[in-house]
Amino acid sequence: MQFLENFTPELTISSPGRINFIGEHTDYNMGYVLPTAIGNTITFKLAKNGYQNSCNVHSVGYEGFSFDLDKIAISDTEWQNYVLGVLNEISKLTDKVKGFDCTIESNLPLGSGLSSSAAMECGLAFGLNELFDLGLSKITIVELSQRAEHTYVGTQCGIMDQFASVMSKEGHVILLDCQSLEFQHIPIDIKPYKILMLNTKVSHNLASSEYNTRKKECEEGVAIMRKKNPHIKSLRDVTSEMLETSKNEMTKTVYNRCSFIIDENQRVLDMVNAFKQNDLKTVGEILYEAHHGISKLYEVSCPESDFLVNLAKTNPSILGARQTGGGFGGCTLNIIHKDAINSFTAIASREYSKKFNIQLDAFEVQPSGGTCIL
Ligand code: GLA
Repeated sequence: MQFLENFTPELTISSPGRINFIGEHTDYNMGYVLPTAIGNTITFKLAKNGYQNSCNVHSVGYEGFSFDLDKIAISDTEWQNYVLGVLNEISKLTDKVKGFDCTIESNLPLGSGLSSSAAMECGLAFGLNELFDLGLSKITIVELSQRAEHTYVGTQCGIMDQFASVMSKEGHVILLDCQSLEFQHIPIDIKPYKILMLNTKVSHNLASSEYNTRKKECEEGVAIMRKKNPHIKSLRDVTSEMLETSKNEMTKTVYNRCSFIIDENQRVLDMVNAFKQNDLKTVGEILYEAHHGISKLYEVSCPESDFLVNLAKTNPSILGARQTGGGFGGCTLNIIHKDAINSFTAIASREYSKKFNIQLDAFEVQPSGGTCIL
């Protein structure tokens, strides 16, 4: 792109992906989550270009594009909507953004359940906030990025990914209450264990439509239970007893979805206690239990993720594993003894490739800090 030839960035921003220890699909049900940012990031280089409305964005590995701030509209090219959606949301809050140039470079594998979308949205919003001195708070950046995903990308996501990308702290996980947005940074030290991610390299493209379907199924459950308990606003207000009382009025599918979410919220609180007591054995058991729910009750797993979690179960050096993120592929998260990483990675790669003819990626991650200026 022409502007890249004499592009001197004024600002460089690093925006991380995230893992989630526990609390999957609980965020849009107003429950609890336990994510943290990781060291894999998207880097934005930004500069004002002196024009009133004209902007140029170039993403390494993709074709660049230019647009006019006065004519922001949804694009047919999917990744551009992360950029355009953010600008559309910012334009509702301020008119201080003017022409800018931007390059984007990622070492965060796309579509792998590590939230490259939130890293993209939040990194750009954070960068424009700095570049044009917009005065937006961190939570405003989180919320406008989430809305960008709803309106321009079309996934009715919860708030976890954007929150984790912006608010994380090195060496900590975030216990976030998605109803009140109250949160705590909880220090974690899992030595001599490590967090090993296995990327299945599959991202089934039903993910977005199935995601929105899960949300609707949960809302259907809430509407049924509200008839008997008018105070219920979301699954956060539902107990197992309430669910049992309405069981015969709902389909088995809706029952299973609600049952998973109620248990998953409890698992978040149980895992926080286990971390606080340094009881990693319990942390691991909760991971396996959660994966069972993800696979059988919420039905957002896939044969590839199930295979890797089952393989982890055969290895005594692994305390627990589960698929992390929105589902239908992406990565499994494994809590593994440091001395077993090489041998397990070799076995997992060999067996996975034998079964699916796909070469998986294995990498360690650590709880890292949120979006920042470099
Ligand atoms: C995706 C969404 C999040 C959350 C997870 C599942 O990553 O963006 O809001 O719902 O799926 O926990």
